[in-house]
Amino acid sequence: MILVRNILVTILVVMVFSRCKNKQEKQKPISDVVMTDYYTEPYRPQFHFSPEENWMNDPNGMVFHKGVYHLFYQYYPEDIVWGPMHWGHATSKDLVHWEHKPIALFPDEHGLIFSGSAVVDFANTSGFGTLDNPPLVAIFTYHLMEGEKAGRDDFQTQGIAYSTDNGNTWTKFDGNPVIKNDGLKDFRDPKVFWDEKSHQWIMSVVAGDHLELWGSSNLKEWAKLSEFGKDKGAHGGVWECPDLFPLKVEGSEEEKWVLLISINPGAPNGGSGTQYFIGEFDGERFTTEQTETKWLDWGTDNYAGVTYNVLPQDYHGNTYANDPKQDRIFIGWMSNWTYARDTPTQKWRSAMTVPRKLSLKKISDAYELVNYPIQGIEALVANGVKKDIELQNGLEETIFFDDLNQSEIRFQTVARDFKVKLQNTLGEETVLTMIDEEKVFYLDRTNSGKVDFQEDFASIQEMPIPFLPEVYEVRILVDQSSVEVFINEGQYVMTAQIFPSERYTKLSFLNSSEAPITLNNFRLSSIQGTW
Ligand code: FRU
Repeated sequence: MILVRNILVTILVVMVFSRCKNKQEKQKPISDVVMTDYYTEPYRPQFHFSPEENWMNDPNGMVFHKGVYHLFYQYYPEDIVWGPMHWGHATSKDLVHWEHKPIALFPDEHGLIFSGSAVVDFANTSGFGTLDNPPLVAIFTYHLMEGEKAGRDDFQTQGIAYSTDNGNTWTKFDGNPVIKNDGLKDFRDPKVFWDEKSHQWIMSVVAGDHLELWGSSNLKEWAKLSEFGKDKGAHGGVWECPDLFPLKVEGSEEEKWVLLISINPGAPNGGSGTQYFIGEFDGERFTTEQTETKWLDWGTDNYAGVTYNVLPQDYHGNTYANDPKQDRIFIGWMSNWTYARDTPTQKWRSAMTVPRKLSLKKISDAYELVNYPIQGIEALVANGVKKDIELQNGLEETIFFDDLNQSEIRFQTVARDFKVKLQNTLGEETVLTMIDEEKVFYLDRTNSGKVDFQEDFASIQEMPIPFLPEVYEVRILVDQSSVEVFINEGQYVMTAQIFPSERYTKLSFLNSSEAPITLNNFRLSSIQGTW
C-alpha cells in the first residue's frame, strides 16, 4: 500500500515538475519578448528603413563619414501625417542595418527644416571645425509657415548647420539664411558637393520649374552660377530634390554628368516620380543634348531620391576613407504624395527604397541610368527554392512559400510573355505581366490587398521596355508592404507599395506566350529581417 502510494506521489511530483519546466521553457524572458515584438506591426518593412514611429518623407543629408553612413530624413515626430518638418537621423555601417539617432534638426525662427544635403567639409572651408576635426555641414531649406500663410512668395530660404561630433549634435549657423529669396515660391532642396575642377562647393537647388546652380568657397556665401531646365524634361508638376553628379560610362573611361530631378505631380504612372538628364557640367553650367524625358523608376513609389556624395580619395590632399568602393548610392522615399498620408499603417508612415547603386550604360546609342540593389542586400538572402522552371505555353506553375512577403525572386530568361502573381489565401494578388508585342511591363495592384484608402492607389502601372537584351534577369524584392522589380539588372525598374490583408504565400508563373519558356537559375529565397 505504502509502496503504491509512494509510486503515485513520485509520478505526481514528476508530472508537476515537468509541467513547470515546460512552462518555463515556453515562457520567454520579458526582454526577449520585447525584442521580438520590435518592428513586427502589420506592414512593417523588415529589410527597408522605416522610422520607429510617426511621419517620414524624403531622405536628406546622405553623407558617409568615418566609416558611417548617415541618413537624415524629413520627419514629423508628433503624428503619422506630414507636419512641421524636422530632420530625423539614423546611421549605418553597411546601409542595411540601421541605428536610430535623436532628431538632428528642429524648426527655428527661420522656419521648418525642409529637404537638403550634408557634406564633410574636409578642408574646413567653413571654419566650423578644424583641419584635424573637419565639420559635417548640413545645407537645407527653411520653410517659413507664417510667410506662406501671409501669401508671400519669399518664404523658402537656404540655411546651414554644422556638427563637430560626427553628426551627434548640430548647431545652426548664426548667419542663417545663407541664401535669401527674391520671390520664388518654390525654392528648395539644396544638394551640395565639392567640385574639384572649379575648386568650389556647388549647390543644385530647384526653383519651381527649373534648376539653379550656385557656387561657394566656404558654404556660407553663395553666388548664383546658372539655370537649367525651363524648356527641358517633364513639367507636369513642380521640380524638387535635385542631385547632380558625375558617373563613368560602364566599360569605358567616358564620364558624363547625371542630374536627378523629382517632379510632383507629373510622373508617368501618376503623382510623384524622378526624371533624370545625362549631360555635361563645366563647373558652372549643366547642359544636355537629351530630348526625351527619362525616368529612374517607373513605379509609383520611389520619390525624392538622392545619392551619397563620392569624394575623390585625394580630396584636398586628404586620404579620408570615403565609401571604399566609390559607388554612387541612391536611396528614395518609397511613397507618392498622391496617397502618402493615407496608407494603412498605424504607428509610422512610409519607408525608404533599398539602397541602390547607380551606373551609367550606353544602350542602343543612348545613355541610360541603371539602378540596382547594393551588394549588401545579397547577404540577407537566406534559404529557399532553387531550380530551373520549364513551362509549356498556356501553363502555370505555382510555388507555396510562407515567406513570400519577405523574399527575393530571381531568374534569367529569354521569355517575353509571362505573368508573375503573388497571392494570398484571400485571393488578393499583385500581378506582374510582360507583353512582348507592346514592349511593356505591367504592375497591377488593383486587387493587391487594402487599396481603397485613396482613390488612385488601386492602379495598373506601366513601364515601356524597348531595349531588352535577349537574355536578361528579373529580380524582385518583396517586403511586407512593397515590391521592387529590377529588370536586366536595373535597366528597367518599378517600385510600388502594397498592403495585402494577409501575407502572400503563393507565387505563380503563367506562360502566356506561344512557345515553351524557361526561367533559368530560378531562386525564391527568404530575406532576413534587419530590425
Ligand atoms: C519632396 C518635398 C521637398 C520638400 C519636402 C518637404 O517630397 O516636397 O520638395 O523639401 O518634401 O517635406
